[in-house]
Amino acid sequence: MLAYRHAFHAGNHADVLKHLVLMLVLQHMNLKDKGWRCVDTHAGAGGYSLEGDYAKKRGEFEHGIARLWDRDDLPGPLADYVALVRAFNGGRKLRQYPGSPALAHLLMRPQDQLRLFELHPTDHKILASYLGDVPGVEVHLADGFARLKSQLPPPTRRGVVLIDPSYELKADYTRALVALREALAQFADAVVIVWLPQLQLLEATQLPQRLKAAAVAGAKKGWLQARLTVARADERGFGLMGSSVFVANPPHTLHGALQPLLPWLAEALEQEPGARGHALAQGAGGA
Ligand SMILES: C[S@@+](CC[C@H](N)C(=O)[O-])C[C@H]1O[C@@H](n2cnc3c(N)ncnc32)[C@H](O)[C@@H]1O
Repeated sequence: MLAYRHAFHAGNHADVLKHLVLMLVLQHMNLKDKGWRCVDTHAGAGGYSLEGDYAKKRGEFEHGIARLWDRDDLPGPLADYVALVRAFNGGRKLRQYPGSPALAHLLMRPQDQLRLFELHPTDHKILASYLGDVPGVEVHLADGFARLKSQLPPPTRRGVVLIDPSYELKADYTRALVALREALAQFADAVVIVWLPQLQLLEATQLPQRLKAAAVAGAKKGWLQARLTVARADERGFGLMGSSVFVANPPHTLHGALQPLLPWLAEALEQEPGARGHALAQGAGGA
């Protein structure tokens, strides 16, 4: 039984980084009329109340989206991202936070497709009631790792994949790597976004190198990794320090867009003095 519920974490620093990158990728896809398919292998509930017990219990959004909400000096792409969150809220007060399906839905056009996979029955039910009837959207109660291959390549050969496991199970580290390899083997042009936790754990520290090797071998347009650090591990080495987003076949504009945003976000979202950090790297592909 899955214990992880994204409602506890919605709108935190990791969501800000991941959803900023997802938005930048989909905005880039929208520069061409030809439709795209976005496959979200770990979709969650689609959207989250920030006023309910789950979000309030840990208050993670207070150190994430809430720190950006009222700022009037947001750099352009962050202003776009906050505008999407405002559109989801439908007002000036921050009451709810859009998950990756809601963000993709806000950016999709009539010619685009969204394929959403979620294994937790409760989150699947919420997701299905929210987006299940929307034209172009399919919501599946299924293992997104296992079903990814069947969604690639999209008929238009324009595809984005978000692989966003909770890493609640150690097997998720290997499965994320295998999913990237399989996605690129099916469709070497796929823009594949993988979210990674920044933890002092062997599996977590090894995964970026493994993803890079997979992208070097299988991606036509290389890879990019963006890391945002906001906290320190505790004295036992536990705790989420930040996160990374790895992108295979990134849009050519992504590196330039993220370069000024990462230090800005590191300063805005830092949770303890001196904890902040950021890194941005990219490399070529070989497919
Ligand atoms: C980090 S959350 C997803 C958050 C979402 N992508 C977002 O950005 O709003 C991970 C989700 O994956 C679900 N999950 C875990 N294993 C899965 C699997 N193998 N296939 C599909 N969903 C899975 C969990 O129930 C959880 O809702």
